[in-house]
Amino acid sequence: MQPIGFVRSPYSDKREIPKGPGAKHEALGILEIRPEFELGLTDIEGFSHLFVIWLFDRADGFDLIGRPPTDDREHGVFATRSPRRPNPIGLTVVQLQRRDGALLHVKGVDMLDGTPILDIKPYLSSIPADQLRRGWMVDAERRRRPATVAAPIAFIVRSAMGSDREQVAHMRALLWPSASVEEHRRELEAGSVSHLPTETFVAVGEDGGLVGFVEVGLRSHADGCDAAKPVGFLEGWFVNEECRRRGVGGALVRAAELWAREQGCVEMASDTWIDHEESQKAHAALGFEVVDRCVHFRKSLGKTTIRE
Ligand SMILES: C[S@@+](CC[C@H](N)C(=O)[O-])C[C@H]1O[C@@H](n2cnc3c(N)ncnc32)[C@H](O)[C@@H]1O
Repeated sequence: MQPIGFVRSPYSDKREIPKGPGAKHEALGILEIRPEFELGLTDIEGFSHLFVIWLFDRADGFDLIGRPPTDDREHGVFATRSPRRPNPIGLTVVQLQRRDGALLHVKGVDMLDGTPILDIKPYLSSIPADQLRRGWMVDAERRRRPATVAAPIAFIVRSAMGSDREQVAHMRALLWPSASVEEHRRELEAGSVSHLPTETFVAVGEDGGLVGFVEVGLRSHADGCDAAKPVGFLEGWFVNEECRRRGVGGALVRAAELWAREQGCVEMASDTWIDHEESQKAHAALGFEVVDRCVHFRKSLGKTTIRE
């Protein structure tokens, strides 16, 4: 095996490379491919991300069990990304910014300057996020959480009133920023356009200000639910950033679920954006399961000329 090139990285010392919980790898670097392999880069520009397979050339020996910087417990080397492994091979996903001949300008390097590159492959992942299991990392994150979880706050949940409209319009604009506060205000003033019942619940903080809201409605059917019965649907669900992970979102959803039950529903449904991980986690924490993943399309039909 021979290196196909070398990494040009801002890191000359291992201590400079971010590690541990929440470490982000956003450093810019260059994959300098040897001239005799440049032809192999043909068509690589079309890929946004690449797998870089490289050699931990400055690692010495290996440990079959070790404690990674992201946990205070030991794990087997093949369940970690430790450099100290029997075959010292590293794997990094980088973002390809541009190609300049045999130089690939990339973002996301976590290797030392001069690291030998063994191979490059286009990054493609077909595994949906909900099917990925993250092993001991989930447990390690949970154990770390007590230090970061915010203290509970005092709040009550009640049905929204006309006087809440202004604050709800502001929260709606944070949740759905494609419309302005003014547009949300007008929509709230106009009232629901659905012929099926809808309800809004708000969470009121200690100082009387609103800290969250949920809009729940009935839908005649929803993906993954029994098509024979109407379903309670979370049309909008929002909690102010500083009040998240304090039970406010859960209390709002419980109010929505009670309301849906009163309407005769036996199932509750919701949706969120495919890249909104925080919302997906919040749904999962409240017992929602993923039933589908969609891509929405639009097409303008333009003007039609009707011929006689
Ligand atoms: C935890 S490893 C992960 C590397 C890669 N993303 C992987 O998963 O295989 C990253 C660490 O390897 C070390 N490292 C980087 N380049 C190295 C090299 N050329 N030789 C030895 N260790 C290196 C640094 O300490 C860096 O923080």
